[in-house]
Amino acid sequence: MSSFAFIIHPIAPKRDVARKYPFLGTILPEGVVHFLSRFWPPVYLSRVVGGRSEATGQEIEGWLIAVPYTAQRMLALPTHEVYRKIVAAGELAERLGAKVLGLGAYTSVIGDGGLTIARELDIPVTSGDSYTAAIAVRATRQAASMMNIELSKTTLAIVGATGAIGGAVAQKLGPEAGQVLLVGRRAERLTQVAERVQAQGAHDVALTQNIADLREAEVVITVTSAGGGLVKPEYLRSGAVVCDVSRPRDVSWQVAQMRNDVLVFDGGLVTVPGTVDFGFDYGLPPGLTFGCMAETMTLAFEKRFEDYSLGKDLTLEQMDEIDGLASKHGFRLAALRSFERKLDEAVIARVKACASRGGPLPGNDNVPSVDDITSQVRVGGQEVGK
Ligand SMILES: NC(=O)c1ccc[n+]([C@@H]2O[C@H](COP(=O)([O-])OP(=O)(O)OC[C@H]3O[C@@H](n4cnc5c(N)ncnc54)[C@H](OP(=O)(O)O)[C@@H]3O)[C@@H](O)[C@H]2O)c1
Repeated sequence: MSSFAFIIHPIAPKRDVARKYPFLGTILPEGVVHFLSRFWPPVYLSRVVGGRSEATGQEIEGWLIAVPYTAQRMLALPTHEVYRKIVAAGELAERLGAKVLGLGAYTSVIGDGGLTIARELDIPVTSGDSYTAAIAVRATRQAASMMNIELSKTTLAIVGATGAIGGAVAQKLGPEAGQVLLVGRRAERLTQVAERVQAQGAHDVALTQNIADLREAEVVITVTSAGGGLVKPEYLRSGAVVCDVSRPRDVSWQVAQMRNDVLVFDGGLVTVPGTVDFGFDYGLPPGLTFGCMAETMTLAFEKRFEDYSLGKDLTLEQMDEIDGLASKHGFRLAALRSFERKLDEAVIARVKACASRGGPLPGNDNVPSVDDITSQVRVGGQEVGK
């Protein structure tokens, strides 16, 4: 049977340790969990069963493995030390018999986008970023259409355009927009991305290092590794559609609390073909997963045991290829979700009504509380608002 392994990492240290080790998670203070994580080996979490290709009928099996660092811990530690732990997780995947390995969330953000890790391992490695980008593009088109926004007449902003997923999304969706606004921290890299977006056919491409310029955009895709809460309520214009691909989320929980006139949704969620059981609750409803894991599973279905989506410059060719392959095997864009809830017609109608009067209405009763939001567990992220 073809197989894969996927590496995830904890979000809120105490809570997530408790998911695997209830006693330790209860008694150990957060600081001690952080301290011990440096010495803790990679953790076998579960066996994944029940994924079945729509095209071939074949089943695959997989394994979830945790690297015991939070996103913040990975950013703070020397890169070579983080690599060492991820490589150890990859070696565990090899011993389990996995044929391809996916790097979840920050395990591919750290360093060079998986290139060094892939060199250290015998098993083929993917960041899963190409399919994540493809799915974010689809989700954004769908959400814009739900809000009656014509992309060709509006400004599309990409926050984190200098990153792997951001750059790919900008090249794919940029040519469909009236104007493209690339938001990033490094002017030189932004210029390079702008040239690529123009080469794909976009005529009007603007650059900014000031995130407050987001107010110009009707459609926003945000995909940074800022660690959460980067996009604040005051940066968004009324009626904006915001696709948040980042884990931890870029969009601040305050947006859910204060801005019922904008439509924020999770980018990158797909349904898995078959009756998949991940064997571990990583915070999504049954049958759903993230684009990065879906890319890893697709490579397993396809028996494409080769490195994929590595580095910080993804190609549109790979993005289109993996999108086609995932679709062939039965992965589909999931119903859009916003701050842990399914985005239903009532929410969309409310956003439209608020936006048409030019701002939020009082009584944001359809949005979750901060407790709702922070009580959720995510693959490789941390809770919003921390
Ligand atoms: N939903 C999913 O299925 C899924 C799958 C994979 C990854 N992800 C998430 O997607 C995000 C991006 O992943 P990636 O692989 O594209 O990462 P990446 O290549 O490292 O890109 C990260 C981007 O974030 C920017 N950034 C970092 N800190 C920032 C800050 N404080 N303010 C503004 N911009 C900042 C970087 O800017 P510089 O160029 O200036 O450093 C870069 O443009 C991560 O949050 C990751 O966890 C989600």
